[in-house]
Amino acid sequence: MENFYELAMSRKSVRSYDGRPLTAEDAKKLLTFMETPENPFGIPVSMKLLEAGEHGLSSPVISGEKFYAAGTVGRVPHGEEAFGYAFERLVLYAWSLGVGTVWIGGTMNRETFEQAVGLRAEERMPCVSPLGYPAKKRSLRDSLMRKGIRADERKPLTELFFDSDFSTPLAAGDGLERTLEAVRWAPSAVNRQPWRILRRDGLWHFYLKRSAGMVNDAVGELQRIDLGIALCHFMLGAEEAGLSPKLVLEDPGVALPEDMAYSASVSLA
Ligand SMILES: Cc1cc2nc3c(=O)[nH]c(=O)nc-3n(C[C@H](O)[C@H](O)[C@H](O)COP(=O)(O)O)c2cc1C
Repeated sequence: MENFYELAMSRKSVRSYDGRPLTAEDAKKLLTFMETPENPFGIPVSMKLLEAGEHGLSSPVISGEKFYAAGTVGRVPHGEEAFGYAFERLVLYAWSLGVGTVWIGGTMNRETFEQAVGLRAEERMPCVSPLGYPAKKRSLRDSLMRKGIRADERKPLTELFFDSDFSTPLAAGDGLERTLEAVRWAPSAVNRQPWRILRRDGLWHFYLKRSAGMVNDAVGELQRIDLGIALCHFMLGAEEAGLSPKLVLEDPGVALPEDMAYSASVSLA
C-alpha cells in the first residue's frame, strides 16, 4: 500500500462526521477496493457499502455519518484474524482518500446491520465502520470517549516485542523501526493492544494476550481481530521496507501463561 507508514501513523478513529455523503468518485473507489478484500490467510472475506438512511443504520457514538462499510467472514479458525487484516486494509485505503473510519464491534444495533448485509448462519459480521468526512470539531461524546479509552496513547515497544523469549524485550528493530511503530499504533478494541510479538529462529510469532469478556458468538474472539490488524500493519510495513513478508502457521510451542495464545507467524526471508 502506498504511503503505508504515513497512513498508519496519521489515522485516528473518526466518530464525528460532517454530514456530507461520500462523493461519487470516492464511493466508486471504495466499492472497487471492497470487491477484492485481501488477507494472507486465504479465508474469504466479503464487504458491503451501505447507505445509512436506506437501512436505518446508526451507532450511539457516531454523528453525521451517511455510509457504512460492513464485512462478513465464515465461522472458521483464524476467521477473525483474516477479517481484521482485510478490514484494516480498507480502513487505511479509505484514509488515503481522506475518508474517516472507526472500527465498531460493540456500539451499534447489530441486528439491523446483520440484516442489511444479509448475514447467513455460517457467517459472522464481526465489525462495521462508518465511511465519511471528518467534522471540523469532535462531538463532546467523541472527545470524552477518546479520553476515557486513552486513544492517543499506546504501550511502549518494550511491552510488545520480544527476542527469543518473553522476558527479553527486542533491542534492535533491524531496519524495521517504522514497521514496529506502525504495529504499536494500530487500532484495537478498547485500545487494549492485545498483541505480543516474539522474534525467534528467524520468524516473527504473533500472540494474543487475552482480556476477559472479549468472546461472543456474533463476533467470535474480538481480540483475534486486533491480531489481524497488527499482522496487517506488520506485513504492510515490512513490504514498504522492501521485504517479502509471508504468513506461516508455525507455532514454536513456547510455554505460555493461561491468558496467552498463539495466533500466526510471519517470515521476512
Ligand atoms: C475490533 C475493534 C472493535 C472496536 N469497537 C468499537 C466500538 O464498538 N465502538 C467504538 O466507539 N470504538 C470501537 N473501536 C475503536 C477503538 O476504541 C480505537 O481504535 C482505539 O481506542 C484507538 O483509538 P484510535 O483508533 O483513534 O487510534 C474498536 C476497535 C477495534 C479494532
